[in-house]
Amino acid sequence: MIFQKPRGTLDWIGKDIEQFNRVCEILRAISNLYNIKEIITPTFEQLDLFLKSVGETSDIVTKELYNFVDKGNRNMSLRPEGTAGVVRSYVENKMYANNNETTKLFYIFNLFRYERPQGGRLREFHQFGVEYLNAQDWRFDVEILIFANNILSIFNLEKKVTLKINNLGSFEQRKKWMDELIQYFKNYEEQLTEDSKNRLLKNPLRILDDKIDGKKDFVKNAPKLENFLSNEDKEYFQNICKTLDLLGVKYEIDSNLVRGLDYYTGLVFEFQSNDDNLLGKSTIIGGGRYSNLIKETGGPDYEGIGFAIGIERLLIALNANNYDFQIEDPLDIYIGCENDEVTNIGISIATALRNYGYNTKIDYGVFKKDKNAKNSIKNNARYFIWIDAENIKSQLISVEELETRKRELIKISELKEYFIK
Ligand code: HAM
Repeated sequence: MIFQKPRGTLDWIGKDIEQFNRVCEILRAISNLYNIKEIITPTFEQLDLFLKSVGETSDIVTKELYNFVDKGNRNMSLRPEGTAGVVRSYVENKMYANNNETTKLFYIFNLFRYERPQGGRLREFHQFGVEYLNAQDWRFDVEILIFANNILSIFNLEKKVTLKINNLGSFEQRKKWMDELIQYFKNYEEQLTEDSKNRLLKNPLRILDDKIDGKKDFVKNAPKLENFLSNEDKEYFQNICKTLDLLGVKYEIDSNLVRGLDYYTGLVFEFQSNDDNLLGKSTIIGGGRYSNLIKETGGPDYEGIGFAIGIERLLIALNANNYDFQIEDPLDIYIGCENDEVTNIGISIATALRNYGYNTKIDYGVFKKDKNAKNSIKNNARYFIWIDAENIKSQLISVEELETRKRELIKISELKEYFIK
C-alpha cells in the first residue's frame, strides 16, 4: 500500500525546509528589533473560541474548519488562524497584568483551513503573525503597518505588492451600519445567493465582498460605511493616513476591503501582490485592529491590532523573484576510517570535534581512502581526516585542509590544539 500526503499539505524537505528556516530566522530577527516576544499556542482549541472570534458566518468557520469531537465528547477545532488563540492565551495567562504595558507577541506556526487547494492556497499552511495587545493608540496601527512594510522591503518585495487599507469604524458605528445594511438587503433578499441569505442577519458585511453578489448593482449601491463613521472614527483614520504620507509609506484606500474575519474594527489592511508572475493577485499579508475581541474572550476592555503573513506565499514570491536566501551548507570536517577497529576511534574523534563546535560527518563502512576523499569534496568539507590502521599505532591521524591541500599527521592528543586555534 502506498500512502500519499493529504491534499493541500506539503512535505518540507531539501531546499524548501532550508528556505523555510532561513525566512523564519529573518522574521525572528526583525521581531527582535521591535522587541516582540514569541508565543506558541496549541494546534487545537475549543471550537467555540473560533465561532465567537472569527465569526459564525465567516467562510473560515462555516466551510473551512477542521473540527472534531474528541474522546471526552468536547467540540474542538484545529486552528484556522492565530489571533484567537493568542488572545485566549493573553487572557488566560493574565498577561495584561503587566503595568498597563502593551504586550507584543509574534508566532510562527501551522494553521488549517479546508480550502480548495491551488498555488499558494493550502489546507495546512504557516503564518508569521504579530499581535499587539492593549494597543489603543492609533500610532500602533502605523507601527504595525511599518513593520509589515519593513518585512516586505527586507525581502525586496515592496515594489511587488500594494498596500490596501480601509476603516471599518468603531464597534458601535459598525453595528449601526450593519443594521442599516440588513434593512437594505432585505429588500433584495430574493436576488441574494443562499450563502448571502444565511449571512444576512448575522453578518451582512460579508455580502459586500461575496464573489457572486459583490458584483450586483444593488450590492454596489448599498449604504456605505463612510456615512456612519463618527468624527472620532474619521479622525482616527485620518491620523493614520497622514502619518503614513509623512513617512512615505504608499497605500490605497479601498472601501470594499472588509476582510474575512469578524473581529475587525477600525483599520483593516492587506498587502496584495501586483505582479502576476509572483502570486497572481493574491494577498500575502492581512491584518487589522480588533477592539472587542479581548473583552469578548473574557479579558479587560483593551484593543489589539495585528497581521499575519503566509509563509508559503512568501516563499513562492521570493523564489519567483530570485531572492538570494544565502543558505550555506558547509561541512567543517569529513572523517573516513580504514577499517572497523579504527572506526571506533573515528567515532570518538567525531564526538570531540562536534564538542569543539565543528560540524562533522563520519562515514561508516566505506573503508576505501579514495572513496572517502571524494565524498569529502562532494560534501564541501573544509577538512578531510583519514584514520588508518598503520598511523593509529602511533596515535596519529591524517588531517587535510581541502582548499590548500595541506596535509599533516597530527597526534590525537593534539587535535584540540590544532582545531581550536
Ligand atoms: P488571513 O488574511 O486569513 O488573516 O491570513 C493571513 C495570510 O495567511 C494571508 O494573507 C495568506 O498569506 C495566508 N493564508 C491564508 N490562508 C491560506 C491558505 N489556505 N494557504 C496558504 N496561505 C494562506 C488572518 O489569519 C488573521 N489572523 C491575521 C491577523 C492577525 N489579523 C490580526 N492579527
